[in-house]
Amino acid sequence: MTSFDKAWKGRFTQPTDAFVEAFTASVHFDQRLAPHDIEGSKAHAAMLAAVGILTSEEADAIIAGLQDVADEIASGRFAWSVAREDVHMNIEAALIARIGEVGKKLHTARSRNDQVATAVRLYLRQEIDGLRGALTLLGGVLLDIAEREAETVMPGFTHLQVAQPVTLGHHLLAWFEMMLRDRERLDDVRRRVDVMPLGAGALAGTSFPIDRALTARALGFSRIAENSLDAVADRDFVIEFTAAGALLMVHLSRIAEELILWSTPQFGFIELADGFCTGSSIMPQKKNPDVPELLRGKSARVIGHLTALLVLMKGQPLAYNKDNQEDKEPLFDTVDTVKDALRALTELLPATTFQRERMRLEAGRGHPTATDLADYLVRRGLAFRDAHEAAGRAVRLAIERNVDLASLSLADLKTCSALVEEDVFPVLTLEGSLAARDHLGGTAPRQVRAALARARERLQRGP
Ligand code: ARG
Repeated sequence: MTSFDKAWKGRFTQPTDAFVEAFTASVHFDQRLAPHDIEGSKAHAAMLAAVGILTSEEADAIIAGLQDVADEIASGRFAWSVAREDVHMNIEAALIARIGEVGKKLHTARSRNDQVATAVRLYLRQEIDGLRGALTLLGGVLLDIAEREAETVMPGFTHLQVAQPVTLGHHLLAWFEMMLRDRERLDDVRRRVDVMPLGAGALAGTSFPIDRALTARALGFSRIAENSLDAVADRDFVIEFTAAGALLMVHLSRIAEELILWSTPQFGFIELADGFCTGSSIMPQKKNPDVPELLRGKSARVIGHLTALLVLMKGQPLAYNKDNQEDKEPLFDTVDTVKDALRALTELLPATTFQRERMRLEAGRGHPTATDLADYLVRRGLAFRDAHEAAGRAVRLAIERNVDLASLSLADLKTCSALVEEDVFPVLTLEGSLAARDHLGGTAPRQVRAALARARERLQRGP
């Protein structure tokens, strides 16, 4: 085709400037929407026939032609043309080239504005379903490891300082909760993605007697957009999805940060599998945690996409503006990045070795059961503030003597509070501390097992 053979050529006397043609084109990225654009077009054609706007022969020819185009695109042989601007006009032109004049009727009662909004929604709905599956898979991996490590003692941190002992299973269940909320957020976004814009036309609806319910049913949409202006103008569903994706990536980044710390010789809590690490070109001893580092790093791009989409939307008057063409690259890259990131973590975790002895050793350093001593004194009748002070004196003593809190003698402990008796010692052990936190949400191994059982059930629930 020449640059003058445009869909809008009737109104124009001069061809599109060659640079402008390239500048306005989106086909190099929006071709990803092809299967969804075609699905939308088939449903539209079938509806046009059902209400008598097309004959059934015409609709059949269009639908068969669209299937041919779909097959050609799937085979990779389709010749995308920048002069045809975007995925929609490339497909329509290919259809007309194949089936002739009747192909020109497909665009009756439709605009590219409701067409593109429909294609993006169909695309995103499908991708959300895939991501839900990926999150469920990762959740299952986390639960399997948490089950294995339900009794494994590790230090719990606040301010990255040893705080109180927890079990590794409990820590992994915290990651699980983050992932499950991310899945919930996707489920919630999906409800607002699952709305059909078709019928909105360019902005005001159409003068043809269309049947929107029929098209919506064919495309599996549970709702029909109520307002034609809004249907073509707002990309808030893309923003919401990217926000959910950004938050998910922030969670993965935090998990990755812990894996990076834990894999250092200084922590020594985990050994990452060789297959998930790289070496250094100069330092022979290095084994770098590249995969978690990239999980952390890739969160930045999705956060950037969210910002880009919010700014893209904020100045647009109703209804459709070409600005919206810029929603696709951030959206597609968010989908790709989140998908890869989930896969990376899902494969890395089962290949990771958890160093139980080392975690236990570190859990014992830094007097992590000092709170248990204070709680013990409260049970003996002291007010918590006074108990805190007495336990603090005991910690100071232990530091002076260079021993653990639990290794202080009863006589030493009694100098901190006369209420201390022999029965304090089991309270000051790591196991004693863990077992004491025996309530819903606590780290006692028995509670971790109960939480695991509930988590398995929650993971299986549908949207
Ligand atoms: N490629 C365009 C987009 O992504 C399709 C809609 C174009 N509509 C228009 N009126 N120019 O938004």
